[in-house]
Amino acid sequence: MKKFNIALIPGDGIGPEVVAEGVKVLKAIETFDEKLEFSFTEFPWGSEYYLMHGKMMAPDGIDRLKQFDAIYLGAVGYPGVPDHISLWDLLLIIRKEFDQYVNLRPITLLDSTLTPLKEKEKEDIDMLVIRENSEGEYAGAGDWLFKGKPEEVVLQTGVFSRKGTERIIRYAYEEARKTNKTLTSISKGNALNYSMVFWDEVFAEIGTEYPDVKTYSYLVDAASLYFVTNPERFEIVVTSNLFGDIITDIGAAITGGMGLATGANINPEREYPSMFEPVHGSAPDIAGKNISNPIAAIWSISQMLDFFGEEVWGERVLDAIKDIITDTDYLTPDLGGKATTAEVGDRFVHLLQKNAP
Ligand code: NAI
Ligand code: MG
Repeated sequence: MKKFNIALIPGDGIGPEVVAEGVKVLKAIETFDEKLEFSFTEFPWGSEYYLMHGKMMAPDGIDRLKQFDAIYLGAVGYPGVPDHISLWDLLLIIRKEFDQYVNLRPITLLDSTLTPLKEKEKEDIDMLVIRENSEGEYAGAGDWLFKGKPEEVVLQTGVFSRKGTERIIRYAYEEARKTNKTLTSISKGNALNYSMVFWDEVFAEIGTEYPDVKTYSYLVDAASLYFVTNPERFEIVVTSNLFGDIITDIGAAITGGMGLATGANINPEREYPSMFEPVHGSAPDIAGKNISNPIAAIWSISQMLDFFGEEVWGERVLDAIKDIITDTDYLTPDLGGKATTAEVGDRFVHLLQKNAP
């Protein structure tokens, strides 16, 4: 019997709606597989909590989360709480404190009808973006001088340590070797004459240890163009925090939108829990209507199962997504269907039961 303890942070807006469906899927898997057991502990942190307590999470929040095998997060942020507070005081604190320095974002076209790109098929868009998740442009380093005065100056400093740069690039080479895929580094060495020149050097340096991995190196502006015109160029991609944030949204756009984009925040050493979340936000415009698309959140469950070493179940969940995506009876309005959030989750349970061993 393998037991996994999961901390739930449903968060704000549609966060709780989609997390409920992910939990439904895990509970179903537990009943189909007697060797697996999941336990869930829910934490009420988020913007509503902030409005009551003046903080996004409990002061001992990080300590309490430490004991879990994984964190499953919905979305945080809501009108009335400044976005930089909701992001920094919950999500980014967890990513940093738990040294989740790898952000894994699969960009996979599950059905050719989902892409707005002309003449692109499933096999053309299938990549994994590995985004640096602990420093770089989002290190939070800088200053705000002479606030409000005519001589006002703001500094936002990119932080690229040797340790931080090497470990993310090495992780990407390992992934490329393991999957026998090409590796593309995305940077901007022509304009960012310190940080990205350094990045490119480290990419080349570590590459000497992986002569078997075929590599490419693109500037981020050119890469953005290729994401749209030639996504088939990319298999494994490694890039910095900011560039990864932006290009994975292009990735979401070419594969069916926010309702399908997922991301895992991984601490590869497993010293701390890793965190699994859909990429989308709390969608206040549709919250409470039971029409939010839970597929991205359920895809996160597939990533979580892979991380737990339960790749067979991870694959089954992904197969269920591929199945559902072709059947508008079981899709929410954002994908042209009429189903409710809960009906999509129920459909997953049905399909997983059908394919259970
Ligand atoms: P958003 O992702 O919440 O919404 C953008 C658009 O996509 C909206 O029209 C929304 O209805 C739609 N959408 C998003 N997820 C959907 C889903 N699962 N099903 C159907 N439609 C979906 O981004 P927005 O509006 O920029 O941000 C809203 C709030 O969420 C803000 O407070 C923001 O800070 C926060 N946010 C939180 C994130 C997180 O927790 N990781 C990520 C992005 C934003
Ligand atoms: Mg983003």
